Amino acid sequence: MNILLLGSGGRESAFAWKISQSEHCSQLFIAPGNGGTGAYGKNVPLNINDFEAVKRLVTKENIQMVVVGPEEPLVKGIHDFFTNDPAIAHIPVIGPKKEGAILEGSKDFSKQFMARHGIPTASSRSFTKETLAEGIAYLQDHALPVVLKADGLAAGKGVLILENTAEAQQELELMLSGKFGEAGTTVVIEEFLTGIELSVFVLTDGENYVILPEAKDYKRIGQGDTGLNTGGMGSVSPVPFADEAFLSQIEQSIIIPTVEGLKKDGIDYTGFIFFGLIKVGDKPYVIEYNCRMGDPETESVIPRIESDLVELFMAAAKKNLDNFTLQISDKRAATVMIVAGGYPGDYEKGKAISGIENVRESLVFHAGTSLEGGIVKTNGGRVIAVTSLQDDQFQALQSATADAARIYFDGKYFREDIGFDLI
Ligand code: AMP
Ligand code: GLY
Repeated sequence: MNILLLGSGGRESAFAWKISQSEHCSQLFIAPGNGGTGAYGKNVPLNINDFEAVKRLVTKENIQMVVVGPEEPLVKGIHDFFTNDPAIAHIPVIGPKKEGAILEGSKDFSKQFMARHGIPTASSRSFTKETLAEGIAYLQDHALPVVLKADGLAAGKGVLILENTAEAQQELELMLSGKFGEAGTTVVIEEFLTGIELSVFVLTDGENYVILPEAKDYKRIGQGDTGLNTGGMGSVSPVPFADEAFLSQIEQSIIIPTVEGLKKDGIDYTGFIFFGLIKVGDKPYVIEYNCRMGDPETESVIPRIESDLVELFMAAAKKNLDNFTLQISDKRAATVMIVAGGYPGDYEKGKAISGIENVRESLVFHAGTSLEGGIVKTNGGRVIAVTSLQDDQFQALQSATADAARIYFDGKYFREDIGFDLI
């Protein structure tokens, strides 16, 4: 079948790499793709939030499955758009409808969902402009640090962790007066949890689910987890501290109640659920839900999946995941993200990238790159993800880091400590 993959990051490169290996994939289209995805299929320049344009491409290229990488088209209703149009309603879309994507699209909704279904998470309350005075009073007695979250999508910038009450009250006021635009019309004030984070993923068909390999993402820009938050500087899978007992606890107390909760609420969900978790003592808590896979977690997770990814997607589309056994490799994956100088602040684009051919043991997943006249150039903050898959954890970390050093562009930066804290 012809498959369309939407997105342009490292996550989509890993998806494209894997989908292109499937015997069920005749032709893969990636829209818009990046400077590397052309190696796995055909890049098509397209605004993926322009659903009419997506429909035109789907019709022209006889697409039989659409896989959605990022959250934005899902939260905006791309799956609903397909379902509501008889001409394309039969084409499976991997990714939830709007009513499911709201788990990521509204933090207030997700907190209410977790409360309703008894899913462990930080205690919280939500406030709007109308209830600002109550919010200020709530903060007055709140333990520190305290977490403020803009309700809607804020490009990863909508979470503030504050150490000081007066500052938190000031930020609440700023957020409710439009600091994050529409995303901040409601603000969730949340208890700060202390622990170690990990990412767990399932693919669900609304009835059944398949658990994918778990991963750990390194979010801070600096070595030793210091400095500003980024979209993710690297990842590892599996996660050594997530042993069988802990993963089983996650399944029982979080995954099952979430899938059952969606059913009870009448939300028909086909797609990934990404559980952003934190281990507090011995217990897992949900920090956030996402309606998509993580980036750069996907770059570590996908290489460990031995099963045919398109078969997995077909089973999800047919609500047949109960009959699917995911084959997962015991190998260790480590991903190091090479970023542009200045990221996550301002950075320049258009720097020529060299040395990709010198990479020895790793997979190279392009993220913010473009291909111009045969030259690969930087085109974003997170530029290239380098993933090594090895029998031994240390070897995987070492070779991903060594291979990241073999790629060069003006201003390049990467963390040399990804995963080494875990061994
Ligand atoms: P989010 O956008 O919800 O993933 O939040 C971004 C990051 O803020 C998370 O990955 C955590 O590192 C941190 N964070 C969010 N909520 C909490 C919390 N309740 N306690 C501690 N850290 C948090
Ligand atoms: N790596 C975190 C995310 O994809 O949101």
